[in-house]
Amino acid sequence: MSAALVLFTVTIAALADALHGRSHASFQAGKPPQFTEKYFTQTVDHFNFNSMDNGTFSQRYLITDEYWKKGYGPIFFYTGNEGDVWGFALNSGFILEMAAQQQALVIFAEHRYYGRSLPFGKESFNIPQVGLLTVEQALADYAIMISELKEQLAATDCPVIVFGGSYGGMLSVYMRIKYPNIVAGALAASAPILSTAGLGDPRQFFRDVTADFEKISPECRDAVRGAFHQLKQLAERQDYSRIQSEVALCKVPSSPRDIHQLYGLLRNAFTLLAMLDYPYSTHFIGHMPANPVKVACGIMLSGSDLLANLRDTAGIVYNSTGVLTCFDLYNLYLECADPTGCGLGFDSLAWDYQACTEVELCYESNNVTDMFPPMAFTEKDREVYCSKRWAVVPRPGWLKVQFWGDALSTASNIIFSNGDLDPWANGGVRKSLSSSLVALNISGGAHHLDLRGSNEADPESVISARKTEAELIAQWVKMERTKTRLRKSDTQQKGFI
Ligand SMILES: *[C@@H]1O[C@H](CO)[C@@H](O)[C@H](O)[C@H]1NC(C)=O
Ligand SMILES: *[C@@H]1O[C@H](CO)[C@@H](O)[C@H](O)[C@H]1NC(C)=O
Ligand SMILES: *[C@@H]1O[C@H](CO)[C@@H](O)[C@H](O)[C@H]1NC(C)=O
Ligand SMILES: *[C@@H]1O[C@H](CO)[C@@H](O)[C@H](O)[C@H]1NC(C)=O
Repeated sequence: MSAALVLFTVTIAALADALHGRSHASFQAGKPPQFTEKYFTQTVDHFNFNSMDNGTFSQRYLITDEYWKKGYGPIFFYTGNEGDVWGFALNSGFILEMAAQQQALVIFAEHRYYGRSLPFGKESFNIPQVGLLTVEQALADYAIMISELKEQLAATDCPVIVFGGSYGGMLSVYMRIKYPNIVAGALAASAPILSTAGLGDPRQFFRDVTADFEKISPECRDAVRGAFHQLKQLAERQDYSRIQSEVALCKVPSSPRDIHQLYGLLRNAFTLLAMLDYPYSTHFIGHMPANPVKVACGIMLSGSDLLANLRDTAGIVYNSTGVLTCFDLYNLYLECADPTGCGLGFDSLAWDYQACTEVELCYESNNVTDMFPPMAFTEKDREVYCSKRWAVVPRPGWLKVQFWGDALSTASNIIFSNGDLDPWANGGVRKSLSSSLVALNISGGAHHLDLRGSNEADPESVISARKTEAELIAQWVKMERTKTRLRKSDTQQKGFI
């Protein structure tokens, strides 16, 4: 989610920051966390004892015991999603703040096939090697990693709480329902577990992106629609050189395909602005100013040259460094099986594959329920693309069968948090299902704002959501301790009989 659930390609700049251990403005818990980077020897294929891939690979994880009450405090485990694990660790300060309060051990695990956790190195994205990139394998990785690290760290009685944002939040939910023997509870922030399981409306995502701009002002939405209308007219007249000069493209577009790519690149900029509409500037998926949707609307409504405004709005996302001389259509944005974007680099290959197999992301824009040019992406389009690109046929119903879809009532100890500015929110659980399946609404919140460290610009809603989350998690930890104690005394008694 390149946004995508993306969500999550860490840019080179953020990565460089991460590698240099620089702290980000967003992390406010005093000093930056002292994570140690480690590798775990992981089974490549958990589900086939005769697998051709008989071996192990090195799975990266980050760990800090700075706050841990050794052997007693809970384990806060982040179920890494589609990107470099440092990107999540450096943008989830709340988990560390809570760890400090609850004396927890903190682990951020990197998802197989992302970042440095490539089971087959550079060959990982070949067919058939890529076939071991599945949700089930990733969950098994985390289950095994947690179990073995607990042994190694003499933490076998420490309750485990899982955390994740976006796709990582989906994984947290799945961990709790699939491995309740290992995981006592889950905080799933901005996790679109319903839409990705095929229980959504294809128009929902870009409608909700549009709503964010409309909320700033209806004129802003109209200006965006007007700019796309002008582009369309120029394209119809094949006035391609005018398009190049107006939107500062590196090459003159020369075909409807190029125009389609341009629409995709521009729509992706609005997607990222909406997802990352935080009240302070961030370095999560690239650099974003504070309140980027508001900034974008300021630009869209400045002066009458709508195409220049559109170009400068795209610049917030693609030219945050201010050094881009022109937009390179095919390098800045990759079209893939996720219409909300796959990001760039190796991570984008992995995410594209997941969007071609288990994770359904058939979102369309149509210029009626949203402000973007009509761009369909149907189940059929997905099938054609995926069989050509990866030699796979997606199985639309599979995620729902495996991970329960909306039939979650027998689950427990899960928080589904969502911000109302987040276009992913309405693909997730918005209403509490029971006293232990709790939905939290964060008004004025963008994509998993609650996982970020406290900031003085935080709205009241997120402060209160974090408080509720911390309370529920402390309760779950306590309940789990009681259960462990009862189990142990039970076994002891049996021993006496
Ligand atoms: C798996 O590993 C074992 C032990 O190294 C080896 O004997 C066996 O042939 C391997 N199986 C496959 C399918 O590669
Ligand atoms: C990128 O930003 C710089 C500095 O504002 C500007 O001079 C340049 O024209 C921008 N590039 C594009 C492609 O808009
Ligand atoms: C969007 O719809 C409006 C109104 O029907 C139309 O004038 C405009 O050309 C459409 N824009 C695109 C990009 O298709
Ligand atoms: C959150 O907001 C949505 C949309 O406004 C609403 O449908 C839902 O009932 C709210 N959920 C909670 C838990 O308040």
